[in-house]
Amino acid sequence: MCGIIGYTGKNRAAPIVLQGLRKLEYRGYDSAGMASALNGALYFKKAAGKIDDIDKKYELGELPGNTAIAHTRWATHGGVTQENAHPHTDCKNSIAVVHNGIVDNYQELRSALIRKGHVFDSETDTEVIPHLIEEYLKEGNTFEQATRLASQKLEGSYAFIVISLDTPGRILAIRKDNPLVIGIGRHGTFAASDTLSLQECESVVFPDDGELAILRSDGVDFLDIEGEQIEKESSTLDMNNYQYDKGSYEYFMLKEIMEEPQAIRAATIQDEQIFTRLAMDILRARQVVITACGTSRYAALVGRYLFSDVAKKFCDVVMASEFEYFSKSIDGSTLVIAVSQSGETADVIEGIKRAKANGAQIVSIVNRYGSVLSRMSDDVLYLGCGPEVAVAATKSMVSQMAIFYLLAYAMRNEFKIAANNLRHLADELERTLKGNGKGIVRLAEAFKDIEDFYYVARGMNSPIASEAALKLKEISYIHAEGLPAGELKHGTLALIDDGTPVVVLCPNDNTFSDTISNGIEAKARGAYIIGVSDIEHELFDFWIKIPHVDGFLYPLISVAPLHLLAYYLALKRGTDPDKPRNLAKSVTVK
Ligand code: F6R
Repeated sequence: MCGIIGYTGKNRAAPIVLQGLRKLEYRGYDSAGMASALNGALYFKKAAGKIDDIDKKYELGELPGNTAIAHTRWATHGGVTQENAHPHTDCKNSIAVVHNGIVDNYQELRSALIRKGHVFDSETDTEVIPHLIEEYLKEGNTFEQATRLASQKLEGSYAFIVISLDTPGRILAIRKDNPLVIGIGRHGTFAASDTLSLQECESVVFPDDGELAILRSDGVDFLDIEGEQIEKESSTLDMNNYQYDKGSYEYFMLKEIMEEPQAIRAATIQDEQIFTRLAMDILRARQVVITACGTSRYAALVGRYLFSDVAKKFCDVVMASEFEYFSKSIDGSTLVIAVSQSGETADVIEGIKRAKANGAQIVSIVNRYGSVLSRMSDDVLYLGCGPEVAVAATKSMVSQMAIFYLLAYAMRNEFKIAANNLRHLADELERTLKGNGKGIVRLAEAFKDIEDFYYVARGMNSPIASEAALKLKEISYIHAEGLPAGELKHGTLALIDDGTPVVVLCPNDNTFSDTISNGIEAKARGAYIIGVSDIEHELFDFWIKIPHVDGFLYPLISVAPLHLLAYYLALKRGTDPDKPRNLAKSVTVK
């Protein structure tokens, strides 16, 4: 879950790479570093901390030369220290590598290299890569051959970028199961973890597993896994789709919550024919399994209710990290829907690989264009909600639920009706966000010192209870649980005490009265009840008012004020909602 970037071209590389690196910070922000090459020397700067702090202290952007690589880290192997920060080098400091992924067999490789006399400076798995390249160079291989051979020794997943003193102006990049994009611009070429970090690139190329990209200032060559030169198809990159700033907002998270209505509108801009075809495939499939992680999984769980309620199609949702344990029952008559904002989540990719190997049809619901997942799928439905930068997912979840709503209605041949309903909902959501802001700030002030929060709901609203709890834990570090309201009495009620906040999501749908009853049980134990509903009830100590909407759309509207609540609680507790501790936006490790 790290970000990597490299540039070689006519301009000075360090400022360009630094600008791209900042855009990759969502992938990890434990430490960062850069290496550049000029006149037969490599220059390095790296440290623990966030990019801006490191830049202030070490002036990353001042490194000389027109070729540079850089890294922002989310620690997996080895603590957060300067030594473990990337780039990593060989024994002679003549090869520098930045890497995203995990080398599973690094211990074995490291021991073998140490036996051959290599000296290691860090505890990372990455450091074996420059030493392996060094070893293959000693055997008389070219830089390209040595890099390819080294990559073939690595087990696990990786995307790495490497420079060497012996081949000035050249950058090599290679991947397996981790994202890598090559950008071709007017003044130089790029290799990076994602398209967001590329600047002024006219076209991009996505290398497949094992293909080596050889970047020069004036172009890129590709070698296949056997080392034969190949032609790769490039696609154009519309930089207008890559707006990436906070505008007038203090944090990306607030901006992205406020963009939830727009995300719904964008999700409706779809090709009806594709939806109708996929809807028929879903209806025909012997079994439909949805797989996802975290917030995307909660969107999938809402989708599951929608498929069942709207289209009478039962399906299951399997947490991606558990998918392999069910994979024996996935076959050619299974349709698997993978849901992922980033399209990079390792657990999802791993599950989809297994499903593909078993012959299943793969449909993915993805935000990031050109992501690993989208390229593995038979069909891709894009969210189109624009880059989501805050680590905590917000607008992408709302888009994902909108896509499920459209799919469910497409199964009834009512795609257009659904798209229309969603557009109306977007307007209602805009009003809801505006109308609840001040009240939620007051609520956050009142509960900022609390250590436990509970969220309950029934039916298709219950995944929203789980999502609200996840968001709260993730950014404000308050312990929270979200559960189907009927489950409260099977144990969790024991934890409800005087003043314990319990959020009761009870829109005026078929879940209303049963959920209220569960809320009353909690209140009888002293709970402070925060009701989320379109109708007021005497049970509520605090009412978050949502509008009355089509019964199948409540999850899409009730999640927004709860995202706001998590956000304001984080602010009141002094945590950074955009960069929560121990997390990263793209979870590319298993
Ligand atoms: C929570 C959050 C994570 C992600 C999860 C899956 O706010 O952001 O739980 O939802 O890591 O990520 P994607 O959707 O990129 O597969």
